[in-house]
Amino acid sequence: MLEERASFGSKLGMILATAGGAVGLGNVWRFPYMAGQNGGAAFILIYIGCVLLLGIPCMVSEFIIGRHGASNTYRAYSKMSHGNAWKFVGLLGVLTGYLITGYYAVVSGWCLQYIYASVAGQLHGDPSFVKSYFQSFSTDPIRPIIWLVAILLITHFVIIHGVRGGIERASKLLMPTLFVLLLVIVVASCMLPGADKGIDFLFKPDFGKVDRGLFLGALGQSFYSLSIAMGCICTYASYYTRQTNLLQSAVQISVIDSLVAILAGLMIFPAAFSVGVNPDSGPSLIFITLPNVFNQAFASMPILGWVISLLFYALLSLAALTSLMSLHEVSTAFFYEELHITRDKGAVIVTVTTIIIGAFCSLSLGQFDGLRIGDKSLFDVFDFVTGQIFLPLGGFLTCLFLGWFVPKRLVKDEFTNWGTVSGRFFGVFLFLVRFVCPLAILSIFLHQFNVI
Ligand code: PHE
Repeated sequence: MLEERASFGSKLGMILATAGGAVGLGNVWRFPYMAGQNGGAAFILIYIGCVLLLGIPCMVSEFIIGRHGASNTYRAYSKMSHGNAWKFVGLLGVLTGYLITGYYAVVSGWCLQYIYASVAGQLHGDPSFVKSYFQSFSTDPIRPIIWLVAILLITHFVIIHGVRGGIERASKLLMPTLFVLLLVIVVASCMLPGADKGIDFLFKPDFGKVDRGLFLGALGQSFYSLSIAMGCICTYASYYTRQTNLLQSAVQISVIDSLVAILAGLMIFPAAFSVGVNPDSGPSLIFITLPNVFNQAFASMPILGWVISLLFYALLSLAALTSLMSLHEVSTAFFYEELHITRDKGAVIVTVTTIIIGAFCSLSLGQFDGLRIGDKSLFDVFDFVTGQIFLPLGGFLTCLFLGWFVPKRLVKDEFTNWGTVSGRFFGVFLFLVRFVCPLAILSIFLHQFNVI
């Protein structure tokens, strides 16, 4: 017999927890770069359009399935489809979330190491030193794995305290802290001499750069950033109460996520441009380029540079931790409900196995050539398979399922929340989920394989 279903205790806690799942490394290391490279404000506008027209409907679809099912993602899809083959879409969501947990934890562990390195003053040196520091650390067979274990144990600790006592409580503490850190660094960065060039780069609209590739890039980024099709949204929604207005919540979460992404741009570009460095994206941005930027930008005030670097990696670690919590919960809920074991045991299975997956991913970046598949390290394979194949596939199938196969009455009941204003948008929502979202997702998928 399963214990009574947990739920979030307050609206604020529920929004912060879900937004915490969405706000992650993608907001900091990918969005600002994409915006700066692809037409600044023009990209930001298109991104916001993608969030409104595609991200929010997909998020609401997962909310509906999750809350209706009030169980892990696999079982929620199974309940909604009365046990037919659509349940495997739920299983795909769980699998995607599970596989991401291991490698996401590796990068999250690197953030913890960089907090330590900032405090210990290990990041000072010329650019080539900072680069070799990262290379030797990330390919080290031991140190990244220690941090990987540390961050997964912290996540484990939160998860075993349950939905209210663990996830909700931690999110209520961590998310406001993340915001404060973000604002402090934005202010410090924008006050540097020459910061305005960075602000220009981020916001100056250049509609000449808008083409199909950019459009699809914005679309892919909005899905990744909102954690669509990874099981996270559906799992958290299973803890929502019947009173939760799903559309309103999706809008609030998307606003928080997009705001953090834009503020991350205001944190990175002004500082980078003030020292004449052109920022890039991905791990090299946060682990190589930015330590150099901090060193140079605050060369005359080393203490301030030290503090900003520390705050920056603390912020990244918080963003990563809240995302890891949402990922961990996807598989924990799956294991404990499907195997009929306790929540604690489910969490232990997830923590132990994802440490093993993460350790292999980490080792594949070093000397362990056996851990490569073709020319890709195991780490890159996980990233590719989950982000570029499973994510679009899961999103596409979810839209088809909810739009075309679930009885309309049932979808409407969940969506309208018994007569709130959201009901007015039901027609638009259904149109987007039936036609626009599947087509858009299909085009991202085909585009990334150069088919269109
Ligand atoms: N949305 C997260 C980000 O922006 C990435 C993520 C995906 C986190 C899936 C959790 C689950 O970084």
